[in-house]
Amino acid sequence: MPRHPSPNALAALLERQSIRAFQPEQVSRHTIEQILDAARYAPSGTNTQPWHVIVVSGAAKTRLCEHVAQVRRAEPEREAGANVAGEYRYYSDPMTEPYLSRRRRVGWDMYRSLGIAKGDRAASRDAAGRNYRFFDAPVGLIFTLERVLEKGSWIDLGIFLQSVMIAARHYGLDTCAQGAWARYHDIVRKELAIPDGHVVVCGMALGYADMHAPVNTIRAQREPLDTFARFVDQPLATKGSTVA
Ligand SMILES: Cc1cc2nc3c(=O)[nH]c(=O)nc-3n(C[C@H](O)[C@H](O)[C@H](O)COP(=O)(O)O)c2cc1C
Repeated sequence: MPRHPSPNALAALLERQSIRAFQPEQVSRHTIEQILDAARYAPSGTNTQPWHVIVVSGAAKTRLCEHVAQVRRAEPEREAGANVAGEYRYYSDPMTEPYLSRRRRVGWDMYRSLGIAKGDRAASRDAAGRNYRFFDAPVGLIFTLERVLEKGSWIDLGIFLQSVMIAARHYGLDTCAQGAWARYHDIVRKELAIPDGHVVVCGMALGYADMHAPVNTIRAQREPLDTFARFVDQPLATKGSTVA
């Protein structure tokens, strides 16, 4: 007997989107615990479960955000360049196609939804700064990994991140994963007492979506299946050999 189909998995996958404006309504500690409790069932290589997450809210979140805002004012050059991350490179530099175009498209759509004209650097910087308030979500999550771990564990953390985002949907909550926090890894580390042996990989905003906010009405486009998937059900003819 095969197992029964899970009823809501596809709906949660299709409905998840990055939310960048939230209602002020708080999220109970119990709900956050339920989300993380579900996410710990994420698979990982040889069940290593390498993820760590710090849940930040209330005065601690305010302090973290204020500290980063202060450093943003003092060190505007930190956000120059393609790489969002500080301790690791998220993107190739220079970014190649088709990735560059996809990145630009979602950026332009987002700025347009916020009424920001192309080339308005001050407004773009202010908009980017909303990352460092967790987009006003009541809860911020910071994800870390031990520095000694390899790429495999980063795959595992990615699966864990998506598991948190999908579990959040189950409770009517929304999220935005945020590589942006990695740029201020030193500040995050200090404020949240993260040991030097851990890399600050990314953050995540968590809360109840404000669906009246125009920024939440954009949907990032996806490439069609045939651009990334290939089906092989016959032996491939290789150059110089004949396939019987
Ligand atoms: C690991 C990771 C880091 C991200 N970092 C940021 C970020 O710093 N700021 C932001 O606004 N969105 C961030 N995003 C959201 C992406 O821009 C978003 O997932 C993508 O455009 C697809 O849109 P969707 O999530 O709405 O489907 C991040 C996503 C991932 C998976």
